[in-house]
Amino acid sequence: MRRKAFSILAYWTYLVNSGSRHSVHSPFVYKLVDLVLKNKKDNQAFQNIAKLRQKLLLKSQVIEITDFGSGANHKQYSHRFERVASIVRNSSVSDRYGRLLFRLVEYFKPQTIIEIGTSVGLSTLYMALANPDANVYTIEGCTTKSEQATTNFNAMQVSNIEQHIGRFDLVLPDLVKQAGKLDFAFIDGNHTYEATIENFKTLLAIANNDTVFVFDDIHWSADMQKAWNKISDHKGVTVSIDLYRFGIVFLKKELSKQKFVIRF
Ligand SMILES: C[S@@+](CC[C@H](N)C(=O)[O-])C[C@H]1O[C@@H](n2cnc3c(N)ncnc32)[C@H](O)[C@@H]1O
Repeated sequence: MRRKAFSILAYWTYLVNSGSRHSVHSPFVYKLVDLVLKNKKDNQAFQNIAKLRQKLLLKSQVIEITDFGSGANHKQYSHRFERVASIVRNSSVSDRYGRLLFRLVEYFKPQTIIEIGTSVGLSTLYMALANPDANVYTIEGCTTKSEQATTNFNAMQVSNIEQHIGRFDLVLPDLVKQAGKLDFAFIDGNHTYEATIENFKTLLAIANNDTVFVFDDIHWSADMQKAWNKISDHKGVTVSIDLYRFGIVFLKKELSKQKFVIRF
């Protein structure tokens, strides 16, 4: 309940502070808003993912899931049974933000993408389909969710996704060594302050001047907002963009340090 009240207040603050593209004086960010955030162009991939989402939402199958994240209630992990449909409804990226992920990847053309938090793979699909030449590495701690994701990737005939199964803190350091470089990261896993900061720092080791970081649920809780503030204040980060649900950060040294709150 406290978390819900926090999110409502955070949303109100966002509405008050956010501006349109006309309040943006950075040419880099203005172009991004114009060509990516405001872009409403349809794509066959959106239709295909929407059909898959519909199918999953109708699935009555119940699977046993392992939770290593904030849902584990301070334990290392917890088990529970959940319908595939409810996993999709409650934790998969929405169509609107999935399209945004797609457009960001289409625009920046990253070659190496790392996703933290696969779940059943909807966000992974938006990124993988946006640039079939990219290598998309995605990590999920829950084996049964990861298996569901494999089924979905096969059904969509996508071949540029490499799945890794295990706890982020154990798997990510090795994956970072394997990938060697990072052009785009989507961090949508363990929604705690410590894990979000830890994942960001681990990924920074292989980032470059053009790496784009996208964080989900930056105002989901006071902890997540604290993590977002810390990340946007980080000395390596120049531009940060708060879209309420997503937070995007850039490391580009040629840009001056600026924090944007943009109405999306
Ligand atoms: C919000 S869901 C990801 C949703 C997915 N990105 C999408 O939009 O379709 C977060 C996922 O991270 C996994 N997770 C959370 N904490 C984890 C941890 N510490 N290690 C491994 N997996 C974890 C959960 O099992 C869950 O499936």
